[in-house]
Amino acid sequence: MTEPADDIFAQLKQQATEQLKKITTPEELEQWRVNFLGRKGQVPRLLRTVKDQPAEQRAAFGQHGNKLRQELEGLLTAHQKKVGTRAMSQPQPKVNQAGLGHLHPLTLTRRRLQNIMAALGFLIIEGPEVEEEKYDFDALNIPFEHPARAETDTFYLAPRSPRGDGRVLRTSTSAVQVRAVIENDLVPPFQIASPGRVFRNEKPDPTHESTFYQLEALMVGPSVTVADYRSITEALFSTFFGKVASIRLRPGYFPFVEPGFEIDMSCPFCQSGCRLCKQTTWIEMGGAGMVHPNVLSNMNVDPEKYQGFAFGYGIDRFTMLQHGIDDIRLFWSGDIRFLKQFA
Ligand code: DAH
Repeated sequence: MTEPADDIFAQLKQQATEQLKKITTPEELEQWRVNFLGRKGQVPRLLRTVKDQPAEQRAAFGQHGNKLRQELEGLLTAHQKKVGTRAMSQPQPKVNQAGLGHLHPLTLTRRRLQNIMAALGFLIIEGPEVEEEKYDFDALNIPFEHPARAETDTFYLAPRSPRGDGRVLRTSTSAVQVRAVIENDLVPPFQIASPGRVFRNEKPDPTHESTFYQLEALMVGPSVTVADYRSITEALFSTFFGKVASIRLRPGYFPFVEPGFEIDMSCPFCQSGCRLCKQTTWIEMGGAGMVHPNVLSNMNVDPEKYQGFAFGYGIDRFTMLQHGIDDIRLFWSGDIRFLKQFA
């Protein structure tokens, strides 16, 4: 004699299989799944009545119910292969769709500066980020004992050699000057510009980072003067900021130039003082000078016949001024909310 529960399960199975045979679309199949196997479907509903069965039949009832559920799940999977699933026939919902990437703000600035320099007739030459002490220091007239060469200021690739012949993460793009002239056999007159990343053993704060970017330029010829420096720099600043800028030279010391200057640009954002120029109407932009005769000799250029100027400006600084960014550390923060503003 069959148990009454068996009948119920057998009936349900017959009903389910008959309906299933007629199903030809993923939508109908999903409806079938909801009807028989969904949380409020017939099989789970029946299984929940296990507590209402006579105590001695509960175990068998549960077993039958679970067996039926497994069989129907098996039939479902098999039928899905025939008609496909809803996910395949309908467009995927647009959740968490990855956005398109875009260039970093520093890259955008570097490209703009590079294009302006190229338009001014400068050849763009890049150098290595790992540099020999010879180019990073000696060729630039920075002697072994100079404090900038200490390990507290400069990242060495190996413990510092007492012979000063090791390698460093370059501390400025000035390192490219001599290397570029020698490697490319440049003969005056020439004008080159080198954008790139530099490194300093420095504790980061809102205006300092241990890695940042510089734009270096070098122009050498028989009669290059401070006036040439001035006009090139004013053209660069004016073009970049879209407003005619003038510059102011203050005396500054850098071992590779003589005389050396610290450069201020007239504030392109105000007439009478603002946050960006700290109410002074002038903004510090970097260093420059007339190339030291020793440095000219180091690049095989005769200092008796030729002279030139060089400058080094911070690419991060241009970017911060342009966008009113007040913390240099944001560039390396990886903060997507910051970066998205430059998409
Ligand atoms: N190398 C200097 C620095 O990193 C910047 C600089 C100053 C570059 C004067 C020059 C220059 O070419 O003439 O602070």
